[in-house]
Amino acid sequence: MTYNFLKTETYDPGILIVKIARPDALNALNTQVLIELKHILSEEAQNPKTRVLILTGEGNKAFIAGADISEMHAKSAEEGVQFAQLGHEATKLLELMPKPTIAAVNGFALGGGAEFAMACDFIVASENAVLGQPEVTLGVIPGFGGTLRLSKFVGLPRAKELIFSGRKVKAQEALSLGLVNHVFSSEELIPNTIEIARSMSQQSLSAIARAKQLLNEFSESAGLNFKLDAEAQAFGRLFGSADQIEGMSAFLEKRKPHFQGLSTPNTQEQPQ
Ligand code: CAA
Repeated sequence: MTYNFLKTETYDPGILIVKIARPDALNALNTQVLIELKHILSEEAQNPKTRVLILTGEGNKAFIAGADISEMHAKSAEEGVQFAQLGHEATKLLELMPKPTIAAVNGFALGGGAEFAMACDFIVASENAVLGQPEVTLGVIPGFGGTLRLSKFVGLPRAKELIFSGRKVKAQEALSLGLVNHVFSSEELIPNTIEIARSMSQQSLSAIARAKQLLNEFSESAGLNFKLDAEAQAFGRLFGSADQIEGMSAFLEKRKPHFQGLSTPNTQEQPQ
């Protein structure tokens, strides 16, 4: 497959950096980027030469500024579900890959961006990193696993506060919350992440794979598919609602949204 929005770099021994490169939209995830990510992650899961995978964004402004709002804003409920499912297929590859995956967050990691970071085994960040789940400001909810994974990183009450408010946190606060493991200067982010990767790539990959599988299972990855499917359905059902249309239109028109009160979600039958 030819990648239009991904770049790769390799470092010895067995370290692969995958960079999302869509700088005009702050590396936002449209369908094409998600398809490319899904393809490269399934290839690299099988590639014996790759022992540790680092995910990052091109440039120093954004890791990923979220799912692409200009693509999403006109989606139907059914298309919303399918979009979330595509995001889940790609993020599950990171979480379940039998080798370490590290997110090197070099700037904004919002919405789907934070969700891709949290699907990695752990996150390291630059000093200018900003992480958050601002979906409620757009009239939707996290749709790429955030309702499940954020509470694993920061605990349930903090996850609720962050998701209900859409508040973004800077690198140092993310460090104190346990959302990121380390904060480095922008210049040191990639060299230091490669050093962390090297401390793993020289160990027994079969032992690491087994440890990762057990750590995931013991931290409630059991039932992952059921939980992610529930999220995809809930995310999709908000599409076509007055608040989703208003929230995403307001972002694209660069104005504040005016949300209505509690409304009944779209309860149309959704595809499984
Ligand atoms: N989707 C599409 N385009 C995006 C985008 C996104 N998520 N984020 C940024 N862009 C685009 C902007 O529209 C802008 O394009 P133009 O130059 O054509 O106007 C360009 O990237 C640069 O962005 P800004 O001018 O807004 O840059 P800024 O420095 O002023 O602000 C920012 C940066 C705070 C990240 C701001 O761009 C922003 O708030 N982006 C949206 C973040 C967001 O809400 N993400 C969640 C999306 S929903 C989601 O991800 C659902 C899910 O769970 C799957």
